Amino acid sequence: MKIVCLGTGYVGLVSCAVFAHLGHEVIGLDIDEKKISRLKKGQVTIYEPGLEELFGKHLGKNLEFTTSYSEALKGAEVIFICVGTPPKSDGSYDLKYVFAAAESIAKHLTGYAVVVIKSTVPPLTTTKVKEIIQKNTGVDFDIASNPEFLREGSAVNDALHPSRIIFGVETKKAESWLRQVHKKLPGPVLVTTPQSAQLIKYASNAMLATRISFVNAMAIMADQVGADIKDVAAGLGLDPRIGSSFLEAGLGYGGSCFPKDTWALISFAKTLGYDFNFLKQVDQVNNDQVDYFVNKIKLFFGGSLKGKLLTVLGLAFKPNTDDLREARSALVIDRLTKLGAVVHAYDPVVKTKFDDAYQALTNSDGLVLVTEWQEFSELNFKRVKKLMRRPNIFDGRNFYDPEKMKKLGFNYLGIGQR
Ligand code: UGA
Repeated sequence: MKIVCLGTGYVGLVSCAVFAHLGHEVIGLDIDEKKISRLKKGQVTIYEPGLEELFGKHLGKNLEFTTSYSEALKGAEVIFICVGTPPKSDGSYDLKYVFAAAESIAKHLTGYAVVVIKSTVPPLTTTKVKEIIQKNTGVDFDIASNPEFLREGSAVNDALHPSRIIFGVETKKAESWLRQVHKKLPGPVLVTTPQSAQLIKYASNAMLATRISFVNAMAIMADQVGADIKDVAAGLGLDPRIGSSFLEAGLGYGGSCFPKDTWALISFAKTLGYDFNFLKQVDQVNNDQVDYFVNKIKLFFGGSLKGKLLTVLGLAFKPNTDDLREARSALVIDRLTKLGAVVHAYDPVVKTKFDDAYQALTNSDGLVLVTEWQEFSELNFKRVKKLMRRPNIFDGRNFYDPEKMKKLGFNYLGIGQR
């Protein structure tokens, strides 16, 4: 099928590559000329494992990029809107890019097409987008919602092996065209209304955020009673009704999705007259978690961090990405420096002034693990211990084995475990 992905950010690029891999004719469309000219040369503009390989296979064959709406939309059958929906200061989404995209699409439609919103948007947005398109074209079209559930760092794999494929549609024709687009993908298909589809996306992220905040609150309990949160989570997860994923205690969630989507759901609920107090607490626990961790470090040093050199390992919001949005690292560094510590930081992908973790750890009073990159588990800890001024590990992700670290001569502090 002839597919257009409008917006070549994270979701758009992965969708382009994966749809091309499934054998469709794909055009990536963006108004950012610099980005498009780089993409045309095969320079992948985001760090995402497996993406470059797919680009290499399909670019110039069934995958192309353009800034021209008329070129992209000529004969387009399915158009995915993948533009950004940045958060506003009140937590709601800014939908101006979605609406602008809808208007431009309408002006360039050449024949029937299914216009699919992939960007995460509040339910009811589809109605507005439909109105905008109707106002600007006489051409027949259908509107649909097809939320994505990709995780950064494993987006290509997730897209090729989806846990579920949701079609939020209003007509049988749109459903059948979307089925054709996705027919080579495994995974259950659920057909719903666009409103349900968009609520499924919000509900999924809010539920995962809830699990993380729940286990983090339990980690504080575990600290109080000398329990081990990893054991608690393991025992909890053995209940098949609960399951074991997303129960890793630590510094809490960051990234471009969980924080933004929980705020948006709270603010969307407010427009409907519902106070989503429950989710506010989830967000609060997540914010408090950084202070809880930093306070532990402060208490370890007897109440003051003045003059201490602390080394933050990991800046990205999670491993295998260069994404810093809502990363806990920024908050941790802010709190530590406000308490008088000098902070050195290193990340395998995000550039800092240090070449490697060893350099950043030299003369340090404490290793503060913020992002659990594999590289940090493979450090030579005998060497690390020699380089550091004091052998202290503050593990914000419960990444290291406390016993092993203690045997190597480190003082170890985790979250909900000792
Ligand atoms: C998340 C969802 O997992 C995807 O399904 C969804 O498509 C995506 O948001 C989105 O809405 O686009 P992502 O933000 O890439 O994906 O990252 P996750 O792997 O879900 O991790 C989010 C944050 O939660 C990270 O900061 C991670 O460190 C934290 N986390 C995760 C925990 O603190 N504990 C856990 O047990 C799991």
